[in-house]
Amino acid sequence: MSGLRDIRVVVSIDFGTTFSGFALAHVDAKHNIEVFNSWPNGELMRPNQTKVPTILLYNQSLEVVGWGNTAVAPGGLYGGASQRSSDSHFLAEQFKLYFSTQEHIPKPLLPNKLEFLKAITDYLIKLREIIQDRVKNKWRGTVAFPDQVRLVMTLPVDWPQKALVDMRNCALEAGLISERHSDNLEFVTEPEAAALYCLKNCAEYELNPGDAFMIVDCGGGTIDLTTRYLMQNGGLGEETESTGEACGGSFVDREFLKFIGDKLGITEKKMDELRRDHYTQFQRMLEGFVFSVKSRFNGNEEDFGYTSMLHLQSECKILVENVHADKKLEMEKSRWSIPFAFKDVKQMFDTVVEKILRLIKEENRGNIYGRRLQFKEKVRIIATPMNPISAVVKGALHYGLEFEDDPNKANYGLNKTIKTRRLKCTYGTDVLDPDIDPIISILTGSSKMFSLIAKRGDEIAADQAFKETYTPVRRNQTEMSMNLYCTRRFDVKFVNEEDVTLLKKWSITLPPLKTDELLPRVELSLMFGKLEVAATAFNKRTGKKCQVQCNLPEADRC
Ligand SMILES: Nc1ncnc2c1ncn2[C@@H]1O[C@H](COP(=O)(O)OP(=O)(O)OP(=O)(O)O)[C@@H](O)[C@H]1O
Ligand SMILES: [Mg+2]
Repeated sequence: MSGLRDIRVVVSIDFGTTFSGFALAHVDAKHNIEVFNSWPNGELMRPNQTKVPTILLYNQSLEVVGWGNTAVAPGGLYGGASQRSSDSHFLAEQFKLYFSTQEHIPKPLLPNKLEFLKAITDYLIKLREIIQDRVKNKWRGTVAFPDQVRLVMTLPVDWPQKALVDMRNCALEAGLISERHSDNLEFVTEPEAAALYCLKNCAEYELNPGDAFMIVDCGGGTIDLTTRYLMQNGGLGEETESTGEACGGSFVDREFLKFIGDKLGITEKKMDELRRDHYTQFQRMLEGFVFSVKSRFNGNEEDFGYTSMLHLQSECKILVENVHADKKLEMEKSRWSIPFAFKDVKQMFDTVVEKILRLIKEENRGNIYGRRLQFKEKVRIIATPMNPISAVVKGALHYGLEFEDDPNKANYGLNKTIKTRRLKCTYGTDVLDPDIDPIISILTGSSKMFSLIAKRGDEIAADQAFKETYTPVRRNQTEMSMNLYCTRRFDVKFVNEEDVTLLKKWSITLPPLKTDELLPRVELSLMFGKLEVAATAFNKRTGKKCQVQCNLPEADRC
């Protein structure tokens, strides 16, 4: 495993539902940040854009034949194929939404047999090829990839713990890390990265220690919120538990398609099928909508100006061919044009905006310091960063660049600014029920009790260690194990209760004992300062570190 000293370059990846991007910097030139913007086919589709579409193009054998701009380029492979139908090729998109724990979120259609984790891995492979190339060219082959690269990946707040395990595996398969438990890979939540970016770029607002600010990160798939406060030492504390929901910008696009479908008498299901089979046409229509209507809409009728018009004959002909018989005459009369009045567009936004406002209220209510923020009345400043598109990827890069590298400091290996985090899960281990005789307990197989380690919502210092001392029961014991359970619930009595998941199973290797040596006393420390829970153990009698292994990488959802 490569140590902190080896890291020469930090790369942050913002793997988004609709768009993705990466940024990079050398540890010896931390201010020289590059947000990559030379994507393949970029000059044709979106010149100088810092993000590329999160889209893959597959052939029948599930091989990737295009991705990002290349997958959707008009006149490109798919552009040509889609003029007919997509019998030979198909697109996969929005696969990140499969990680959402919210059952009601419509998951995008993925072709038969295409696992969403394979799609993620395939996409990360494409990103890795570009990153590897950029690292090689930028630093003329002096940086070993991936061993001398710290990789920071961003993720939404609502992802379960299991998603981190899956992302780690995908990163490994994509060649972004060289071993599964590599220290080179770090995770940070999207709003946390945005908070770091805002902290660096909001000097004009003169934040003082104790001031709190809420980040509302509106992505294409999810809306993520976090409330942080500035500490005396310049660090950031987490005020309330972060929240998030899959109700981002692409859901406005879905409302737009629903609106069009209603006008043409085409069902949602049929619209989905047509979109999949005639992707380029739909994409062109959607881009027209995003560019000329969605991005200009600010909710004010006076600013709306004029009624926009969608001309189906030129923008999405396939819809003309699929109009319902009942609507055909009406559409012919209007020459296949669909007008959008202010109220129509407002309605497309309303569902999503209402959800965002509800999330803001809930995040606010979760403020347990009695420092309740009264939205509008008490919030002094509501601001949008200069370049919101790259705020997350830049913030994640700052996160990875500012690690404590002094091994003598308590926060060694941790980001220097993020000082506290609020737990999103309650964690505990299993113990035998003290009211039942241990022998009877084992014989009857009665459930073990959930012994609380840390509770959901608790604010814990990033370098805080939860310690427990264990002694082996036999002299010839070579291993001790420790099970870590997690749950989104606040109170749990037994580990077999609903919604309690076995997250990790650690085993501690015990050194062989000499004849007159006392049984070791092993102190296990659990750290929740990073998004992935970490464990270390040491023998208190000898002061030596014990080897800790995680035996359950495939934990169930939590
Ligand atoms: N100026 C704009 N006004 C309104 N919407 C916009 C604007 N620019 C981009 N969008 C929308 O923002 C969304 C993309 O945002 P972003 O790139 O932050 O999302 P993402 O990173 O793909 O998603 P997530 O972070 O949720 O996984 C799309 O729905 C896009 O249409
Ligand atoms: Mg994003």
